[in-house]
Amino acid sequence: MTDFTGRTILVTGASGGIGGATVRHLVAQGADVIASGRNMDGLDTLAAETGARPLPFDLTSEESIKGALEGLDLWGVVNCGGWGGEIAGPVETNIDVFDKVMSINARGSLLVTKYAAASMIRLCKGGAIVNVSSQASLVALTGHISYGSSKAALDNITRVSALELGKYNIRVNSVNPTVVMTEMSAFYWGLPEIEKPFLEAMPLGRWATVDDIAGPITFLLSDEASMISGVSLPIDGGYTAR
Ligand SMILES: NC(=O)c1ccc[n+]([C@@H]2O[C@H](COP(=O)([O-])OP(=O)(O)OC[C@H]3O[C@@H](n4cnc5c(N)ncnc54)[C@H](OP(=O)(O)O)[C@@H]3O)[C@@H](O)[C@H]2O)c1
Repeated sequence: MTDFTGRTILVTGASGGIGGATVRHLVAQGADVIASGRNMDGLDTLAAETGARPLPFDLTSEESIKGALEGLDLWGVVNCGGWGGEIAGPVETNIDVFDKVMSINARGSLLVTKYAAASMIRLCKGGAIVNVSSQASLVALTGHISYGSSKAALDNITRVSALELGKYNIRVNSVNPTVVMTEMSAFYWGLPEIEKPFLEAMPLGRWATVDDIAGPITFLLSDEASMISGVSLPIDGGYTAR
């Protein structure tokens, strides 16, 4: 198990389910964690529990991201902040939702990478970035035209960033989870006519927990993964292997 002592890691989406679990895993392994989101109540509660430092900013605003990241000494980043958008196909999609989901999931993560990588390069200590993508970027999922496109863009951001930042010993990877049954996902994935056939098609046949996702994120950040860069790692119970 890597000891992250002395390493400062920024986690966006920390006020949410997967981000909060990731903060807990990293703090337990000695990291100095900066926890980001917009909801200060959620961040303050997490900070009181874990000792992580809250840092609110809005992923849709370059100014907000740049201002928040200026002067930070970062070793690592988890780009976990994201939005699910709508369940719609190419005919019925609301293009304003497409713009917003791209703005948060792809553009926001790229902007965080832009300003965080500058800090990591300046410090000359290498580092690691993990982008929280989705199974929806790897296979076509009904109703996921906007969300899947935003995560496919994020996977490309992962690959090009891995290519360009490797010379600074900065590794960049994605994790591509299946559904974690949060309140946000339940309205769709919890419908019996959606849930049953999906789980029947998945070799492991169950939804993921937040810890199922936070563990591999922490692994990809760690020195155990020192030769892994540019991958999109499915955490999907085997669904996309079919
Ligand atoms: N849950 C799933 O089934 C699932 C599956 C695959 C991938 N993922 C991905 O995993 C990541 C985390 O998902 P989750 O399930 O933990 O979702 P969640 O509980 O809804 O958390 C979403 C997080 O993103 C933040 N966020 C949203 N819009 C933002 C903005 N404009 N600026 C800054 N922060 C913003 C939220 O912050 P505030 O609430 O403070 O605004 C919150 O911390 C997302 O990227 C999601 O796409 C989720």
